[in-house]
Amino acid sequence: MKWKHKDLLGINLLSKEEIEYLLERGKYFREFLDCSPKKMKYGEGYCLVNFFLEPSTRTRVSFETAGRLLGMEVVNFTSEASSFQKGESLEDTAKTLSRMKFDVLVVRHHQSGVAEYLAQLLPLHVINAGDGMREHPTQALLDLLTLQRKFGYFQGLKVAIVGDILHSRVARSLTLGLKKLGAEVFFSGPPTLLPLAMEHLGAKIIFPVEEAVKGVDVIYLLRIQKERQEAGYFPSIREYAHFFGLKEKWLDRENSRPLIMHPGPVNRGVEIGYSFTEEDFSLIEEQVTCGVAVRMATLETLLQGEEQ
Ligand code: CP
Repeated sequence: MKWKHKDLLGINLLSKEEIEYLLERGKYFREFLDCSPKKMKYGEGYCLVNFFLEPSTRTRVSFETAGRLLGMEVVNFTSEASSFQKGESLEDTAKTLSRMKFDVLVVRHHQSGVAEYLAQLLPLHVINAGDGMREHPTQALLDLLTLQRKFGYFQGLKVAIVGDILHSRVARSLTLGLKKLGAEVFFSGPPTLLPLAMEHLGAKIIFPVEEAVKGVDVIYLLRIQKERQEAGYFPSIREYAHFFGLKEKWLDRENSRPLIMHPGPVNRGVEIGYSFTEEDFSLIEEQVTCGVAVRMATLETLLQGEEQ
C-alpha cells in the first residue's frame, strides 16, 4: 500500500484499507515479539521523541520499546525537568524539539486538537498518543489487533463499551475503528456520561448496562476518571462500582462467555474487582503486548511512507 499520511492523528482520518494494513503489519510484529532475541533494522538512523505532557505507562513505554526494537534512537522528554517550568510555550518547545531533527514526535496532551496543531506546525511525523477527549488512535489499533487475533473477524462482532463514554478518547477511536471494520458497538454507563448525541459515532446506546452486555462477544470497560465524581457526574465511586463495575452475572452464560477488555490503567475495585483480570476470559494483558506491535507497525509505516 502507498501510505499517504505524514502523521497518525486519528482513526477518523484512516480508511478501512489503511486500518487493515496497519493491523496486518501489527500482526507481523506481534509474532516477532514472541521471538528472542528481538532487534530489527527498519528504523536505524531515525530518531523519535516521546513528548508526553500527561502521565502514561503503557503508551509511552511501548512507543519507546517499539522505537528501540526497530533500531531507532529514542528520547523521552520530561515536562517536569524541562523549560516548560520556566514558562516556555508548547509551540516554542515543540519547535525546539523539531530543530533537533527528530523524525517522529509522539505527543500526549490534555487538550483536544494539540496533535493536529503540532502536525501542521512541524515538518516531522506526529503521532497522537491521546489528545484530550478526542482520539487515541494507537489504543484503538491495539484493541483491534487484539480482537482480530482472538476472533479472526470483525463483521458482526458485538462489542459493548461501558463507562464514561462522554470524556473517553479511547471509546471514540475504538468505536470509529470497529464501525469501519463492520462490528456492532453498544454503549452503556451512567446516563450523565452518555448523552444520546454520542450515537453519532455509530454505536447504539442501551440502558441499563445489564441489557447492553447481553449476548455481546466483548465487554470493554473504560477507566473511570475520579475527577468526574467531583464534577457531579455520579454520586460516588462506590455507587459507580456497584452499578457499572464488572459483575459475574454479566459473564454467566451457558454458551459463550464474553471476553473482557480495558485500556488500562484499571481502577481495581471500581471497573473490575481484584480477582478478575487474571482469568482466561480477559484480553487485558494481550492488549498490552499488542500495543508494542501496533506502535512498531505505525512507526514503520510512517517512516516507509517517507521513502516512497
Ligand atoms: N491506555 C493508556 O493509554 O494507558 P497509559 O495512560 O498508561 O498510556
